Formats: sequence, C-alpha cells, structure tokens
Amino acid sequence: MSPRWLLAAFWLCGCSADPAPGDSGPAAGGDGLEGSDGAEGGDGAEGGDGTDGDDPPALQQPLLQQPVEAEDLDPAEGVVQVSLVAAPDTHRLTDWRTGETIEIAGYAYNGSLPGPTLRARLGDRLVVDFENQLDDATTLHWHGLDVPNAMDGSPMTQAPVGPGERFRYEFTLEQAGTFWYHPHIDTEHQVDLGLYGAIVVEDPADPAVDADLLLVFDDWREVAETDAEPSAVHGAHGEVGLWAVNGQVLPRLVVGGGLRYRLRLLDVSNHGYLNLSLPGARVIGHDQGLDAAPAPADAVVLGPGDRAELELLPAEGLLALMDSPYSLNGGAALGEAEARLDIEVDVAAPAAAAPAWAFSGASPAPDPGRTDVLYVFQGEAHSDSWAINGEQYPDITVQSLSFNQDAVIEVRNLSATEHPFHLHGLVFELLSLNGVAPAFQERLDTLNIPIYGVARLRVVAHNPGMWMAHCHILPHADGGMMSMLQVTESTR
Ligand code: C2O
Ligand code: CU
Ligand code: CU
Repeated sequence: MSPRWLLAAFWLCGCSADPAPGDSGPAAGGDGLEGSDGAEGGDGAEGGDGTDGDDPPALQQPLLQQPVEAEDLDPAEGVVQVSLVAAPDTHRLTDWRTGETIEIAGYAYNGSLPGPTLRARLGDRLVVDFENQLDDATTLHWHGLDVPNAMDGSPMTQAPVGPGERFRYEFTLEQAGTFWYHPHIDTEHQVDLGLYGAIVVEDPADPAVDADLLLVFDDWREVAETDAEPSAVHGAHGEVGLWAVNGQVLPRLVVGGGLRYRLRLLDVSNHGYLNLSLPGARVIGHDQGLDAAPAPADAVVLGPGDRAELELLPAEGLLALMDSPYSLNGGAALGEAEARLDIEVDVAAPAAAAPAWAFSGASPAPDPGRTDVLYVFQGEAHSDSWAINGEQYPDITVQSLSFNQDAVIEVRNLSATEHPFHLHGLVFELLSLNGVAPAFQERLDTLNIPIYGVARLRVVAHNPGMWMAHCHILPHADGGMMSMLQVTESTR
C-alpha cells in the first residue's frame, strides 16, 4: 500500500470553562432563523465571547452548518459543471460538551469537509473537472448513480488519477435522490481522511419545501483509531465513536413552526452504524429518492454508504434526532440513546400540512424463484479477513449478466457480523429479506444484510460494464469482501 500516512490524532482535554456533559441546553446568544441555507461550510465549533486573557473560551453549542455547495461554472441550462480538487488538509473537530479536540492531518475536496455538495436536477448533465493534488493516486466514484462504466471510478475500469493529474468526469443524471462521491482506490484510508461529499439530484416534480438540508454523518473517533493505530481498529467495529454531523458534534438546528423541512441523511463513516429516531418525522426516501410509501422515523438504521430522507413539520418545542445503540454483531443493542442533532423550534405555529409527495404505493415485484447470481459473505472479524463466495478481491471470479437481463441476485450472509451490500452501476429492488417481501417496492443501491440473513434482489442489467459488488464497511472491502459483476454489451 502507499506511503505511510503522517497522522496526528490527539486529544486536547480539560478546558476549565467547559459546560458539564449533559448540560446541553441551548446556549444563550442571538440568532435568527438559522439553518436553511447560506451558511458557510468549514469546521469547528467556535464559541467563546472574545474575553481577553488566557482563559480558554467557553464553548457553546454550534448551529448546524450546511456543507458548502459547489459553484456551477457553466451558465447553460441543463449543465452543471464543477471543479473538485483533492488535496491534503487538516481537519479539526471540537466536542463543545467536553472541550476535547481531534486534529487529523487528512485530505479534503476543495478544502472543505464534507466536500462541496453537488446539486443538480434530474436530467442535467454533470461535468466534474477533477484535479489530484495528493501524493497518492485516487479516483472519484458516484455512489448510487448508474453512470457509464468508464466514469465509475473503479480501479478495474479507470486508470488511477495520479498525483498532479486531472480527469474530467461527465454523465447525465437519470436518478433523483441523495447520493455521494468518494474515491475508489485505497478507499478505506482516503474516505477516512476526509474525501467525501454529497450529491443532491432534485426532481422538479417534487413538492416545494421551506428548507432542504443535508445531514452528513461521520464517525471521527474511528478516524483517529484507524490511522493512528492501525491495529486498534480491528476490534473497534461498531463500538462507540464520536459522530459529527456536517463536521460538527451535536449541533443545534433552529427551525420555524409551520415550516416544511426535507432532511437528507447520509452515513459516510467507514464502519459506523446509526439507529436514528426523530419523533413526529416521517421517512420519505432512501438511497434512490422517494420511497413507495412513507414510514414513521422511529428506527432508521443507516450503515456505511446508506441514505434516508426525512420530512419534518415542526410545530413547537424542542426535539432531538436520537441515535440508539446498534451493534454489527446483532443489530439493536443495549444502552442509552444519544442525541446527534438538537432541534429547536424558535416560533411556535401549527404544523404545516404534509407536502404532496408522489409516493407510488407500488408493490414489490414477484420473486421468480430462480437465482442468477449468488454472493455468499463469509469472514472473520479478528483478522479482518473477508470473502465473497470464498474468494478475496482481487482474486475473484467475475459473474456475468447479459444486457437487459432481468436477473435475481441472492446475497447470503454466513458471518457473525452484519454487512451493507453495495452494487455499482445497477440499482436493485429488494424482493425479500429472510423470506419476507417488503410491504412496498424498495429500490436501493446499499442494503444491510443481517447476520445469517438472505436477501433476494432483482436487477435489470441495463448498464453494460464491469461493476463492483462489495461490502461498504470499508475495512471489510479492504479485507477482500469485494467482487465484480459484468454486464455484457449485447443480448445473447
Ligand atoms: Cu460507495 Cu464501491 O462504493
Ligand atoms: Cu458505489
Ligand atoms: Cu462487511
């Protein structure tokens, strides 16, 4: 693997003026109606009130910031052209509750973490002029988008973009929803060090909301563990981390009663799961935009790579997006839930009527009973040795589908941990999980497979090329849990 990572991860503790943990009431300090847009990205939870002398500043709860948005450099309608530069950058995260600061000599896109949000509309042409200012080769992958094979950023289909090199990615956006971009070379390290950003593809047919917000979740403690002590991470999967939302620990979102919010949640961590609940909110979408039907937001499990969209119609009071313990070794776990985002309604008003989302109400496709591609997940956590069908990437057997074949993929998890299965290039539909069909159609690109679980997935092989199929727990993918699915050019 590439050169040794120079990494400083350390804790600065013990500011005397800390608020006690748990004393997390909204700090005083004026603010208006925050949180919709216009906030600059950038990290840190700066508080303090400019008192002089050597006293450490008192920390206060930061207001949620939105990631910066990439500037569209092409004025033409229907084209979004952006420039992304990957370069070394130092990231700093302060937990305002304890004063603890994590500093990481990492990487960033355009100097921001999360990287700039790419926002476009369904049907737009997206042009990304990418420049690599790292000392390492990298690529860009468009997680969840069925892009042409040559644009996919997989090391099997694209020559790496070397240090100092440029590459233009270009494709048409044919799916609406919340997606993300990240490298696909040395992925575990590069994503961990800060290379990720969101992609929002708006559907002009969607009803209007008052604010459309991103919540990008990353676990920062796994960063420190992974890179400072490579051996320590292997025992740490699924353990308690320090979660940040858009690069801030437990920020506060101020919302207005009577307004309509669309929250796009994305888990970009290497191996951390979230088990979220937000009272009164509804889940309206997952990986591929709107779901077929809404559901209450009471146990929204997000594994690495996963997305969910929530509708929030606040009225009055205080709310919190809570995260209940979740273990890779068996799902919901014992322990107390922790807040990840505090939400404060600044002006009480009756809740708005729900926007008229175009839920299709579609039923899942019937299971034809046969299996065209089988993936058996096995492995062993202590050695981080993982395999699909007994093979470890890159020494794998490529399985094939013919162009436009309507096929069934079965994924069986025969290991003692859960795995988020992810497929490139071909969105799949869930036919059943452990023999049970979902109540409504579910179209996904990332699906958590429980321990000893069996998922049956339908794909229509509309996109020719070589596509990666892997676990999105990045240490697992790195440890061999990755395969390739080929879609041949012509019909048999
Ligand atoms: Cu999010 Cu193979 O990738
Ligand atoms: Cu992907
Ligand atoms: Cu896995």
